[in-house]
Amino acid sequence: MQEHILVERDGPLQIIRLNRPDKKNAITRAMYATMSAALAAGDADPAVRAHVFLGVPGAFSAGNDLADFMAMAVGGEGGEEVWGFLAAIAGAAKPMISGVDGIAVGIGTTLNLHCDLTFATPRTMFHTPFTDLGLVPEAGSSLLVPAILGRQQAFAMLALGEPFSAERAREAGLIYAVVGEEELEAEVLKAARLVASKPPEALKIARDLMLGDRAELLARIRTEAEHFRDRLRSDEARAALMAFMSRKKA
Ligand code: COA
Repeated sequence: MQEHILVERDGPLQIIRLNRPDKKNAITRAMYATMSAALAAGDADPAVRAHVFLGVPGAFSAGNDLADFMAMAVGGEGGEEVWGFLAAIAGAAKPMISGVDGIAVGIGTTLNLHCDLTFATPRTMFHTPFTDLGLVPEAGSSLLVPAILGRQQAFAMLALGEPFSAERAREAGLIYAVVGEEELEAEVLKAARLVASKPPEALKIARDLMLGDRAELLARIRTEAEHFRDRLRSDEARAALMAFMSRKKA
């Protein structure tokens, strides 16, 4: 079976690649668990200086696997792997750099809010259609996006589900740079190697100072998660998830 998350080491870098192209890199519970374990292992290994997130051409991630959401909506399961991953990215000890090409929906967008540098290609669209799915913002995005964008742009992104192009995201300060599709991975790795070349102790203190006390962020992630779990069982969410599932069967 094809591995949906590929984890490899490249010198001081740990590269975590989402690799489920037939489903546009929709993330299953098993994929979350693999990524959380990789982050923990990389953080614990002094040889690793930075984590890199990459997707496949045209798809960083279509977000949480909607069949998994459906199972959670019907079966009432909590999806601990999801919340574990959100805590892992919010609490990661080492810098995270991401390269995004194409589809970036839901967690495919909000994951990048936790990265220190995000590169995206011109064809990338950042899209968080939470309310259209009867859901609410996650991954601390209800705290982080207003802080970056201001309240009205944040409302457009998180409440209206307005897609943001890579260029708009860069201008707004959501991402670091826009680079061509052909250059994306080379640019990401170049930046990650630069990060990895810095004195690690000083870099860690500098990063921790910029991130500040993460308790508030973790608390917000938990609050969002409580709403999210409730919303998954709502009629609004079930209807939206059914619509996506039946669209696929048609
Ligand atoms: N969960 C599960 N499967 C997904 C998925 C998701 N989030 N996103 C895409 N897929 C699957 C599709 O069901 C399809 O599978 P199939 O070939 O077995 O039918 C395959 O990936 C390709 O998707 P498709 O919709 O044909 O690709 P597209 O390029 O036309 O559209 C998207 C891509 C991302 C715009 C569209 O798939 C989409 O809207 N997905 C849902 C995104 C979403 O709402 N995520 C949750 C956010 S909280």
